[in-house]
Amino acid sequence: MLAHRYWGARLPYISDYPAPFDPIKWSSPDGPHHFVPEEYPGYANTKYIDPCLKVTFADGTRDVILTYEDFSVTASPQPVLALHFKDSYYPLQLTLHYRIHEEYDLIERWVTLENLGDDPILVERAFSAKWTLPPGDNYSLTHLYGRHIDEFHIQREPLTPGLKVIESRRIIPSHRASPWFTVDRNASEEQGEVWFGTLAWSGNFKITAEVTEFASTRISIGVNDWDFAWKLMPHQILATPASISGYTKDGFGAASRIFHDYVRDEVIPHGKTPHKILYNSWEATLFDVDETSQSKLAVIAAQMGVELFVMDDGWFHNRNLDNAGLGDWFPDRVKFPNGLGGLIRSVNELGMDFGLWVEPEMVNPDSDLYRAHPDWVLHFPTRARTESRNQLILNMARMDVQNHIIESLDKLLSENNITFIKWDMNRGVSEPGWADAPADQREIWVRYVQGVYHVWGRLRQRHPNVIWQSCASGGGRADFGILEFADQIWTSDNTEATARLNIQEGYSQFLPANTMEAWVTDWDKDIVPLEFRFHVSMCGSLGVGGNLLEWGQSDRESAAKCISLYKEIRHIIQFGDQFRLISSQKNAYSAVQYVSKDKREGVLFAFRTHIPEPFNIPMVHLRGLDPEGMYSIEGVEQPRSGMAWMEAGLKVELKIYKAQCCKLRKFRNVPLRY
Ligand code: DGJ
Repeated sequence: MLAHRYWGARLPYISDYPAPFDPIKWSSPDGPHHFVPEEYPGYANTKYIDPCLKVTFADGTRDVILTYEDFSVTASPQPVLALHFKDSYYPLQLTLHYRIHEEYDLIERWVTLENLGDDPILVERAFSAKWTLPPGDNYSLTHLYGRHIDEFHIQREPLTPGLKVIESRRIIPSHRASPWFTVDRNASEEQGEVWFGTLAWSGNFKITAEVTEFASTRISIGVNDWDFAWKLMPHQILATPASISGYTKDGFGAASRIFHDYVRDEVIPHGKTPHKILYNSWEATLFDVDETSQSKLAVIAAQMGVELFVMDDGWFHNRNLDNAGLGDWFPDRVKFPNGLGGLIRSVNELGMDFGLWVEPEMVNPDSDLYRAHPDWVLHFPTRARTESRNQLILNMARMDVQNHIIESLDKLLSENNITFIKWDMNRGVSEPGWADAPADQREIWVRYVQGVYHVWGRLRQRHPNVIWQSCASGGGRADFGILEFADQIWTSDNTEATARLNIQEGYSQFLPANTMEAWVTDWDKDIVPLEFRFHVSMCGSLGVGGNLLEWGQSDRESAAKCISLYKEIRHIIQFGDQFRLISSQKNAYSAVQYVSKDKREGVLFAFRTHIPEPFNIPMVHLRGLDPEGMYSIEGVEQPRSGMAWMEAGLKVELKIYKAQCCKLRKFRNVPLRY
């Protein structure tokens, strides 16, 4: 049995690592697997713990006994250790892969299964990893939950004996849960042990947190086995998505920053490129787009300093409402009689890039595509096709569907000067049928996501400079898997600034600010001042989405000022370290800070929402500064040492619905004297 030995701070010598637990005490009701944390348990014999692997062999045997064979190490670009196992009787090979990301102190794990025989093997569960915590109890699990327009709530709860399941069954990770977890023992934002991990997967996932009856805590993570099966054909290999995990002694904030660095450096395609400030037309014009309406918005956006103009839904064939057009990715002849060229040229002449919205995985029954290929959607032939937002889901597992999307979007991108695409996905799955599937229909849960990756990957290869944004009615598809293709996520359809503060805080738990697209819109504009709305959006990748035609001169001027300020500080926000100083999910007064990697510059944002007087403004303790550096903070008179700003803190007085953005600058070093 391959036993897990240790997960914690790095130790200097191999001999320092604890020996595997000796299962001498096992008794007949609780076999050795209940004492020894097996690294990747397959369901077999008396293992009642939650397994990582469950298979049915051709003769009906549902018991997998893995025997260690050998290992191999490949050195580049990052070292990968592969441990090879075989079933003791059947021709099934399992390999556990471990890639070390030393610079980030992260381990990436995935699994491959190979059928070495001549009969198919049915795989009913193949998780990516089991992560085992040090022995003992008193752990807490933190995860994210939510719903459409209310994503990324942080939920922390004690882990008690039994199984806690976090999952998605919607074919995307969904607004309901995120493929991310932390486990801690009395950790805070700033300190304490945190074990954290994620799954790089944009489909159904499952996280199980199991505390056994002998106080062993284990987190399993992988593709959801609910309604899943994979017929592993002779000589076929099945690879799971990767799970990445880490450990820190420095609290939840440090865990987030490790993932932020990793995503920016290793995952997203253009991690070093600052994101342009965009304008998106959705909330201003909805489906009512044409050259005139968009050009009017573009002129004002350009005057305010916007760099990228994005036309959202409504531009393509017959798209006047949400009940027609999806699937027909060519410009509507009434709205754009001469194609998109005229609008794009005028946007470019205004000095802005041009971006476009698409929803390639979907089709409206009222579309040329559906009339030509009604069999291309997910469905069961004997059942009605449930529509949601009047649309059906194309079966992305089919090669003909994949090729069709690649060719239609390639044409669009080749014929037009488009530098940004917002890729939307606006419904959860129903009737996940695939009547002519080559093997088991239940492979759809994996093959659909692989199809999305394939299409997106091909388009990225053909158009490498295009920046893509992942959207699924807001933040329904926000994960490390999609970020290999998309540089940004549309965080939420909720653009009300005070709600956004909370959504953004949840999002930041595992994803960095440069991936977090945030628009300033007109939601609650009579309550929440424009500057407040800007400051909230400036905490991520700034965008504007309000109806600019209705913004008065003074609003446009304030917007221009905020945009110009953001241009000065965006490198700190998008590429620096983020510190959540005071939580907005827990307080009506919140603060967040960004510090450049060299600690010479920073930005502090403070927000006060609805809490009335009398209210005692809390001290804000800055973080991440050089203790021996002298820092000035804009708007605060006297420079002080980094140590003082962090230990003694400062007060940023704010009235209700006011926000402040202060720049920090280190101007010299001071040796600390007490
Ligand atoms: C849902 C997205 O989240 C919105 O931003 C917008 O693009 C609409 N879809 C368009 O249909």
